[in-house]
Amino acid sequence: MYRYPIFLFIALLFCAAASSQEQQHILIETKHSALYFAINAKKHLNQQYFGRKAANRSDYDLVKNTHDAYPGAGMDNLFSPAVRMIHADGNPSLDLVYVKHEQHATDSNTTITDITLQDPVYPVEITLHFIAYYQQDIIKSSTTVIHQEKKPVVITEYASSFLQLDADRYWLTQFHGDWAHEVQIKETELTAGIKILDSKLGTRADFYQSPMFFVSLNEKSTETSGDLIAGTLAWTGNFRFQFEIDQRNSLHISSGMNPYASEYTLEPGKPFNTPEFIFTYSHEGKGTASRNLHQWARSYAVLDGNKPRLTLLNNWEATHTAFNETQLVELFDGAKTLGVDLFLLDDGWFGNKYPRDNDRAGLGDWQEDRKKLPSGIGYLVKEADKKGIKFGIWLEPEMVNPKSELYEKHPDWILKLPNREENYSRNQLVLDLVNPDVQDFVYRLIDDMLTKNPGLAYIKWDCNRPMTNAYSPFLKNNQTALFIEYTRSLYKILDRLRAKYPHIPIMLCSGGGGRTDYGAMKYFTEFWPSDNTDGFERVFIQWGYSYFFPANTIAAHVTGWGKQSLKFRTDVAMMDKLGYDIKINNLTPQETAFSNQSVTTYKRISDIIWYGDMYRLISPYEENRAVLMYVNPGKNKAVLFNYVLNARYKEMFSRVKLQGLDPAKQYRIREINLYPGTKSVNPDDDKVVSGDYLMNTGLNLTPGKLVPVSSNIFEITEE
Ligand code: DGJ
Repeated sequence: MYRYPIFLFIALLFCAAASSQEQQHILIETKHSALYFAINAKKHLNQQYFGRKAANRSDYDLVKNTHDAYPGAGMDNLFSPAVRMIHADGNPSLDLVYVKHEQHATDSNTTITDITLQDPVYPVEITLHFIAYYQQDIIKSSTTVIHQEKKPVVITEYASSFLQLDADRYWLTQFHGDWAHEVQIKETELTAGIKILDSKLGTRADFYQSPMFFVSLNEKSTETSGDLIAGTLAWTGNFRFQFEIDQRNSLHISSGMNPYASEYTLEPGKPFNTPEFIFTYSHEGKGTASRNLHQWARSYAVLDGNKPRLTLLNNWEATHTAFNETQLVELFDGAKTLGVDLFLLDDGWFGNKYPRDNDRAGLGDWQEDRKKLPSGIGYLVKEADKKGIKFGIWLEPEMVNPKSELYEKHPDWILKLPNREENYSRNQLVLDLVNPDVQDFVYRLIDDMLTKNPGLAYIKWDCNRPMTNAYSPFLKNNQTALFIEYTRSLYKILDRLRAKYPHIPIMLCSGGGGRTDYGAMKYFTEFWPSDNTDGFERVFIQWGYSYFFPANTIAAHVTGWGKQSLKFRTDVAMMDKLGYDIKINNLTPQETAFSNQSVTTYKRISDIIWYGDMYRLISPYEENRAVLMYVNPGKNKAVLFNYVLNARYKEMFSRVKLQGLDPAKQYRIREINLYPGTKSVNPDDDKVVSGDYLMNTGLNLTPGKLVPVSSNIFEITEE
């Protein structure tokens, strides 16, 4: 009742809620999957089935699984609980009995199911919420805990989702890394006991581990085969996925906020809502799972997910904090030359008492540096406009340098332990966002920026440190609420901002890869996957994110990092949301012409990349190359990217079979984005062939001499 008031209102108007008391089963279905619950004789809710959809509903009754759907702790459960609570009287047990459920469609694609459980002894109610998206095969799951005890209770476990699977073997795919080495993919077999993927980093939560996983059943899945579940948590903070295999070889997957250092004191009558866990079940391998997620994300999860993105020129790699007004205005010409839509001014434009000339000072003092920018941001916006480009700006609103006026004025606005030395990361501290005054400060910073500079068209929202030694002066003796309340406070600010500015594009940046989750993406249009923009590395990093995020959310900039050719680096950036971060003046006339042509080409084909279906054809983890393609919904246009990586002398690559096309259609193959003065050497270039040929015989993408670290883009168009 607390999370979806609008949906419920619509439902009350148009749909009859299922009367539930007498019903002994609850079925949640999508086009190809089903989650089936049974209420047993003791009125406990069991997860009886989860997997491929059966032809007949009665088939689910043949499966006699009796997994407790949302197990509590302290009673007869011998494994990890989904929820654990210490009641006001100190009793640490929870017994959850089915009370009712409601199920209703909000439109032809979306069904909400709410299942209410209560403890027969204590006035505690838990509601399991499910939202199923039929066409995309996506289910979202979250939980509300509420109680009416006389005093607060403490909850120490609060899963958003508790799924149970039964297979012979389980293969876990995880995405982990470090700064500039994000989302490295690792697949391992789960064995009896517990495996945890989690984050305890608070702000830059996904720095080392991304909140996403696959579990393949029985055997490793491929891109096109195998049963698996893909899961991700919509939460911009500490998360935990726990995989526990019990004595009968059943797998329990518990997903939610990380309860680490977060025993939560819950007041009577106050609902505790967990974030949404998003999952899909695919019986056709990882490719289908990704396409499910992409389609769903564009329509339901990402801000303006089905709307165009701006190409841009960023100045960070080119200038760092060393620039002035005149130089910036000159850089606008670079943006114009490239043909991009926007110039993005990065870090270093602010601070007067403590100018932001490096990362040691100024953070928090969001006034233009009068020496660097005497005419202010407004002037830059106007100058950009004169040159026919838009203007955007970098902010890191949640942080402060000790060397700043903000720190001097508001020492009580900062997360730090009162009786210990300050602990820095990138010379900065985190603001105490839980404090409403700090929320106001952050909101006003952005609101003022946008009201004073009406033409401002884009924001890059950075966040460059995790929380360590975290202590909120505002929360006083309730410190274990910090991790959860911090993220909730961030959402409060973003809700307020989005109410006033629903569409301004904002890039979610957290030093690269530190924040990549669907909790944030409803406020952001794209994210910065990594500071590592070396083209070679980016093939792997962008590949990693492609499993869970659509191409239009993955910002990919051509920079000076990496020793590969400009052509290779550009072709890699064109695979996702293209941008630049280079000194245009340093390019040769030929490179400039190529880059301008690339932007024009990208704008022509970006619809296919942004809104098309993605097929990963050859993984860089399996061969010394990477091949992927996008196909538009009408299957009459496709784009294929081919990256040859560190191929060995005389290494042979087999033909590549394309996917997603119409076998009956005729397509012209055209190599595009060729470097000036070069021609395609592909024997199929400019030929018209059938979809059947492309998908069953395939293309030889590496004819002639193999050139390591080279790339091609092919446009495939119905004739
Ligand atoms: C980290 C970001 O990832 C970079 O792109 C850049 O904006 C710097 N911060 C600026 O400090």
